[in-house]
Amino acid sequence: MKKLCIIGGSGFVGRHIAARAAALGMQVTIPTRQREKLKAELILLPTVDLLDVDLHDPAALDSLLRGQDVVINLVGILQGNEAAFERAHVSLPEKIIQACKRNGIRRLLHMSALKADANGPSRYLRSKGRGEALVKLSGLDYTIFQPSVIFGRGDSFLNLFATLARLAPILPLGGADAQFQPVWVEDVAACFIQAINNKATHQQSYPLCGPQRYSLRQLVDYTASTAGTPRPIIALPDFLARLQAGLLELLPGQLMSRDNLDSMRVASTCDCPFPEVFGITPSALEAIAPAYLANNTPRGRYQRYRRRR
Ligand SMILES: NC(=O)c1ccc[n+]([C@@H]2O[C@H](COP(=O)([O-])OP(=O)(O)OC[C@H]3O[C@@H](n4cnc5c(N)ncnc54)[C@H](OP(=O)(O)O)[C@@H]3O)[C@@H](O)[C@H]2O)c1
Repeated sequence: MKKLCIIGGSGFVGRHIAARAAALGMQVTIPTRQREKLKAELILLPTVDLLDVDLHDPAALDSLLRGQDVVINLVGILQGNEAAFERAHVSLPEKIIQACKRNGIRRLLHMSALKADANGPSRYLRSKGRGEALVKLSGLDYTIFQPSVIFGRGDSFLNLFATLARLAPILPLGGADAQFQPVWVEDVAACFIQAINNKATHQQSYPLCGPQRYSLRQLVDYTASTAGTPRPIIALPDFLARLQAGLLELLPGQLMSRDNLDSMRVASTCDCPFPEVFGITPSALEAIAPAYLANNTPRGRYQRYRRRR
């Protein structure tokens, strides 16, 4: 059975991929900067090892990757300065590529983002685009995934708006007309797992979208209502949206940044159907989200409280 290293595997998407890989009996190694915090949750998965590793140290990366068959790189940040994006989305992929070559690993699955482009409108999309370019030039057997926003239990997108709706009587919203085509985390995870052994996916890039397009306003409206806290939404004009985002950058919690607004200037939607090679019919948001957003209702919170006691 394959040995799989999931770099960035401690995050939202990584946990879903790790759970599937462990269920198939793969030996999974996940490096993290916060082992102590995460071990209770992730160590419960059979065949998953969680290691404290400085990914930017080539020697540490070598000892992490030695003996692995496949590497998945999921590391990503949504906010930061130019240097932080460069480090996470460009320098680190380059270091991973070099470490794969030094350790005889041919298979690399790389997580990018829909509309990643070295000439894109935001630091996030430009740095993701430059990272993709390095992977394509690597000479490895790579597969690149480019999802729109990803939803599912534990997501930080719909859950964020559900929390805001709980706290605020009205929702002033920047980028209200921005377009998204959300894709379910389990569909994304299934693609990664299937790609591991499928040679047809080598040297390919796959945009991943769900079945339906929405504006941000529609998504926030749906989320707030489904969480049991419907709220009026006030679409902010550009200058107020940038002012709001600039202020939110100063708060903890990564609510919204000016760079996020810049990313929304391109539609995060797919021009093509879900990649046929995976044989997956992507799940609709409405079929999945109520089960976890409903936890945000007073009744859901009461049930969680009772379970904890
Ligand atoms: N979620 C979405 O809607 C979405 C949509 C499109 C693309 N993507 C891409 O999918 C990937 C996974 O997303 P996610 O939602 O699972 O993210 P996440 O929950 O924030 O997890 C990010 C992971 O990256 C690691 N990481 C972050 N910054 C790092 C750094 N500077 N050095 C080393 N490790 C670092 C974290 O490891 P630690 O344990 O060390 O903190 C964590 O495991 C990202 O590349 C993201 O850009 C996500």
